[in-house]
Amino acid sequence: MKWLESLRNFNKPHLCKIEKIINETPTIRTLIFSDQIMSNSLPGQFAMVWIPGINELPMSVMVSTKQNKAAFTVRKQGFSSTSLYNAKLGQYIGIRGPYGNNFNIKSGKLLLVGGGTGLVPLMRLLKFVNSSHDITLIIGASTKTEVCFEDLANLLLKNNTHHVITTTIDGTYGHKGLVTDVMSDLLHETTFNGVYTCGPELMMLNVVKMALSKHIFVQASIERIMKCGVGICGSCSMNDNLVCKDGTVFNGLYLLENDEFGCTYRNKSGSIENYTSKV
Ligand SMILES: Cc1cc2nc3c(=O)[nH]c(=O)nc-3n(C[C@H](O)[C@H](O)[C@H](O)COP(=O)(O)OP(=O)(O)OC[C@H]3O[C@@H](n4cnc5c(N)ncnc54)[C@H](O)[C@@H]3O)c2cc1C
Ligand code: FES
Repeated sequence: MKWLESLRNFNKPHLCKIEKIINETPTIRTLIFSDQIMSNSLPGQFAMVWIPGINELPMSVMVSTKQNKAAFTVRKQGFSSTSLYNAKLGQYIGIRGPYGNNFNIKSGKLLLVGGGTGLVPLMRLLKFVNSSHDITLIIGASTKTEVCFEDLANLLLKNNTHHVITTTIDGTYGHKGLVTDVMSDLLHETTFNGVYTCGPELMMLNVVKMALSKHIFVQASIERIMKCGVGICGSCSMNDNLVCKDGTVFNGLYLLENDEFGCTYRNKSGSIENYTSKV
């Protein structure tokens, strides 16, 4: 009922029942549910997902191929994400949002570079391109069994000129190496009107640097520890910005001037940590 949806308070968890679960890889699952508001969210937006009795986590809104269906794609990492990953059919989760800004989709030839669940907002972006866009998507994974979304990307782009290129670090599928190796080769041969990236921050740092060295418009969707998701707690700060409110999508030019991007982040207690110490 449309009028009922229009009364919904975006800052209160809205309960949704998990209707379908897709095993994407041995560590990644997509949970599908009915929700008109989430199914219309913009590429790059996220939701705060409440797993009752466990925690609330920020999750990028995934694309769904069905009308009024929405989805989250979760990788099991720590306790909370593993609880969401283990959610059963018929279980309820609470959803606040959608929050945050969205990618500014340029016309022409676009390059999308993502790794792991960083691909989620990029898959959603594919739903917003038109048939005149020429899309190259570079999918990064550690190994063959962790490659996901290749078929879905080809399906979503069936009306476009497109290339889906896969890389694995151990070389068990697609190109051996990093997504940035492939991007570097591509930039020698061709130019793009826009580059969009999401994934590990050091990967995004390199993507942004490479695109800007060729004077190409570039945007990255940034992750930080999030607690409130709405600009109150400050846990997601990155220099003067709150990633939940001012992002999560930032222009590359701004990011390169920002001394925290690719260098530091706040851990759960709010202390500043170095990205390099995680590598
Ligand atoms: C805007 C946004 C969108 C996200 N979208 C997705 C998504 O679509 N799918 C998905 O699986 N995950 C997504 N995440 C990450 C997710 O919210 C959790 O942070 C992650 O699942 C780990 O949670 P955990 O409590 O299970 O692990 P923890 O036990 O908290 O941590 C496991 C590891 O991950 C690190 N970590 C935890 N949270 C973050 C964070 N926010 N940023 C950087 N490192 C972190 C920890 O330092 C630790 O090394 C997103 C995060 C943000 C901020
Ligand atoms: S998560 Fe609280 S201010 Fe961003």
